Amino acid sequence: MTSSARMLAFVFAALSCRSSATSAVDDDPRYLCRVDVAPLRAALRAAGGDPARILQPTTAAGLLALTSGHRHKFVLNENGMFVVAPLPADAAHNEYVHPILGDGAPVRGAGGMTVVHVDGRVTRVVLDAESFSYCTATESLRPSVRALQAMGIPAEAIVVEARPLACAGAGAAPKRYGAVMVGVGRRFETLGRALAAGRWELADYEMEELAEDVDELPGAAAPPSVRVDLVPTARAFPTTYLAPLAAAVARRDAAAATAAYGVAAGGCYGCHQAAGKVGIMVSPTPGDGVPWITPAATAGDGGVGGDAR
Ligand code: HEC
Repeated sequence: MTSSARMLAFVFAALSCRSSATSAVDDDPRYLCRVDVAPLRAALRAAGGDPARILQPTTAAGLLALTSGHRHKFVLNENGMFVVAPLPADAAHNEYVHPILGDGAPVRGAGGMTVVHVDGRVTRVVLDAESFSYCTATESLRPSVRALQAMGIPAEAIVVEARPLACAGAGAAPKRYGAVMVGVGRRFETLGRALAAGRWELADYEMEELAEDVDELPGAAAPPSVRVDLVPTARAFPTTYLAPLAAAVARRDAAAATAAYGVAAGGCYGCHQAAGKVGIMVSPTPGDGVPWITPAATAGDGGVGGDAR
């Protein structure tokens, strides 16, 4: 036995110190999903994903559906069944994340599974417990190791890779919406003033900063008063509104930039309306202040946001 094989055997022995025959699955803790699954379902659909493609291997042969040698995200669900992403974790447009696999419900384990198979035979399974959303530690892999054994994977073929704990909410608290919006508003106003003055270099700069601020929106925490999901709108904003504006600025096309600015202002205010913040108006005219504050008597003069109650 090589020293690495001895170590692997030791790791396995430590994980399987309770015999699989005597331990009921109910002994294992269940881990709560720490993030909201609804926006993730939308992201899966947007990426062309389909929950029907998710794998649920119950036998060693079922594991052959995983790309050999590539890490796939998995959970061990409440019933002790494996639920595995159909794509490797590093595949493009892969939104099969742990909350999707666990359907937002508590799980008994979550992390990565790398299956090596040769000629239709599983020769090695590497498990790790890295899950940002379930925040599980390496210890939590015991029931998953037992489930693999129950599928007939030999003990020597199963190894565990310890990884640092990754955890939603462990880092800095997400930025609040209002704080990000103060930046967005200031950038948009300065961009408009630069356009009105024909100051293209300043417009270039503000365009870039505005894009960075807008990129923070999908991850920002909306106030409790907002009852709609702003994530899809926030995600679409850069392509729908900022891209045409940036293109016009890059071309130094004043007419197109002015028009695109007005359209983008409509996009801003559309989201404010959806969020119930009808008072935060955004003028379509470059150079106007943001937010747009018109005397109450003249509100309704046809500008973007002019229909505020
Ligand atoms: C995805 C939705 C969404 C989009 C897009 C959006 N906003 Fe907002 N905005 C909000 C919400 C929600 C608030 C209120 C935040 C709060 O209550 O904390 C807000 C607040 C603001 C405020 C007030 C900030 C303050 O506290 O003083 C300004 C100014 C603002 N937005 C400007 C803009 C501009 C300019 C754009 C477009 C470039 C824009 N917003 C795009 C949702 C959005």
